[in-house]
Amino acid sequence: MCGIVGYAGPAGSISDVSERPLSVVLEGLRRLEYRGYDSAGVAVVAPGASQVSSRKKAGKLSNLVELLAAEPVPVATAAIGHTRWATHGGPTDANAHPHLADDGKLAVIHNGIIENFAALRDEFIAEGVRFLSQTDTEVAAHLLAREYRSSGDLAAAMRATAQLLEGTFTLLAVHSDLPGTVVGARHDSPLVVGLGQGENFLGSDVAAFVSETRVALELGQDQVVTITADEVVVTDFEGRIVTPTTFTVDWDASAAEKGGFRTFMDKEIHDQPQAVAETLLGRTDAAGRLTLDELRIDESVLRAVDKIVVIACGTAAYAGHVAKYAIEHWCRIPVEVELAHEFRYRDPVLSEKTLVVAITQSGETMDTLMAVRHAREQGARVLSIVNTHGSTIPRESDAVLYTHAGPEIAVASTKAFLAQITATYLLGLYLAQVRGTKFPDEIAEVLTELKAMPAKIQRVIDNGERVRVIARWMDSRSVLFLGRHVGFPVAMEGALKLKELAYIHAEGFAAGEIKHGPIALVEPGLPVFVIVPSPRSRDSLHSKVISNIQEIRARGARTLVIAEEGDEDVLPYADEVFWVPQTPTLLAPLVTVVPLQIFACELASARGLDVDQPRNLAKSVTVE
Ligand code: F6R
Repeated sequence: MCGIVGYAGPAGSISDVSERPLSVVLEGLRRLEYRGYDSAGVAVVAPGASQVSSRKKAGKLSNLVELLAAEPVPVATAAIGHTRWATHGGPTDANAHPHLADDGKLAVIHNGIIENFAALRDEFIAEGVRFLSQTDTEVAAHLLAREYRSSGDLAAAMRATAQLLEGTFTLLAVHSDLPGTVVGARHDSPLVVGLGQGENFLGSDVAAFVSETRVALELGQDQVVTITADEVVVTDFEGRIVTPTTFTVDWDASAAEKGGFRTFMDKEIHDQPQAVAETLLGRTDAAGRLTLDELRIDESVLRAVDKIVVIACGTAAYAGHVAKYAIEHWCRIPVEVELAHEFRYRDPVLSEKTLVVAITQSGETMDTLMAVRHAREQGARVLSIVNTHGSTIPRESDAVLYTHAGPEIAVASTKAFLAQITATYLLGLYLAQVRGTKFPDEIAEVLTELKAMPAKIQRVIDNGERVRVIARWMDSRSVLFLGRHVGFPVAMEGALKLKELAYIHAEGFAAGEIKHGPIALVEPGLPVFVIVPSPRSRDSLHSKVISNIQEIRARGARTLVIAEEGDEDVLPYADEVFWVPQTPTLLAPLVTVVPLQIFACELASARGLDVDQPRNLAKSVTVE
């Protein structure tokens, strides 16, 4: 939540939005806008100026760009920029960042929540300081200015300020005394450094500067960074010099562009075959055995695991539900799936034999991070499945398995979901290999099936026209989604996509549950998607779902059925059928969810909604 960009480098030659520091920051904000889009703002420091110059505007970044065109800022050598997801104070011009200190010499931007802001603000008000916003951030500007007045050292002032704040924060600041410098602090919120030639960058994630450099530094918790054109200095909050780890971003700026598609979501749906293929790439040795190189947990520890707890939020949690079916089946280890924000409050029973699997696209979700910390405090091992390199959760885990979905820009998740499911399959098969619960040839067979999935996903995408037509004509105010077994999390994900993209009431149910109450919702014409398992699935799963379709159809529901090619049994009961290729039951979510993603995306687009940036949402949820 909230995107942060900082830049230090040579000044440009003209004072408009094409001037380098400002253009770098605006481009960074454009790429980070998915993190929040309630308002945007910049502050620049021009050499010789007695104050910083700041512009900020409620609404999307385009409003700020218009303002800058009307009211340009001076040529600068350092700049900071912010795109906001509102927490404290509504999405107004006044609450937009940056926030300035009284003397106008210092500007601050912030991501996170300062929990003790009210007490600090009261102290300042008692001293006669006037507050201009309702944000928690403004106290940081006043604190930092006070500390700077006493030490004359912005990095030292930042360290002192950080020690006084409670909560979570990334802060960036510029001061008119230091025209080529940006200082940042990181405590439980993300911040990465981009290393350029004669210029340096800061960003909430690498997307902020990937068009300029792919060489980055991973900052740790509780560190302060100072960037100038030629230097990056990192210390801990006590002022001790720290040497951070360098990494190279493994995707380029074009991966974060629309590439000819109408929206990022359209593009990301089309990226899915590649996201799955890349996540599978290079995971076996010459003998065909799985080798998950990034895993840093000893095989003996994995053999001793007696319980797995998956923690995640939203779509990532639905990937966790799919994982439960696969891992329990392949490894015979009990798997619990828990929403990360509920996890630590119920005092879960954990031991050193518990493997906690945290699934997260961003690697920054605060609820998941806090659950990871709790699990480790209780002695459990934590393995994270993460898409974003340089993020916090892999740093704080015992082991990591990276998905290789590439940057996911649309706020609602699509390709990261498929990559997460794929990574959990790899984990399940790896555990089965280590623990000997599957023969090597059985594992190889599943791997072969998995390698066939990108082509099958591609076929579903290529055949997406019928679901698009249905979406364009859909006028219902409510849609239900039913599934059993691995189809159940797919139903919940289908409902979530529709809620967040099209703002339509949608519910996903286990198909067997509907007769226990939700069937009362069914009325003539109500669209109900049903995910039908393969006729080859076990224990008459298939026929049970066919019965569920009949039950709702008898009550007038309009049945939209997702079924395997050749499954003639569904035809008498389906108002519409969307076919998916034949797939082993456990792997089916990789294809069955795709028509539901296309449906939600198309329906929202047809209604003129912004599918990439739905209302009230932000991509990276860094508050609890
Ligand atoms: C929904 C969606 C969210 C995220 C959730 C977790 O489309 O994107 O539900 O899945 O906020 O985010 P990560 O995976 O970054 O931890």
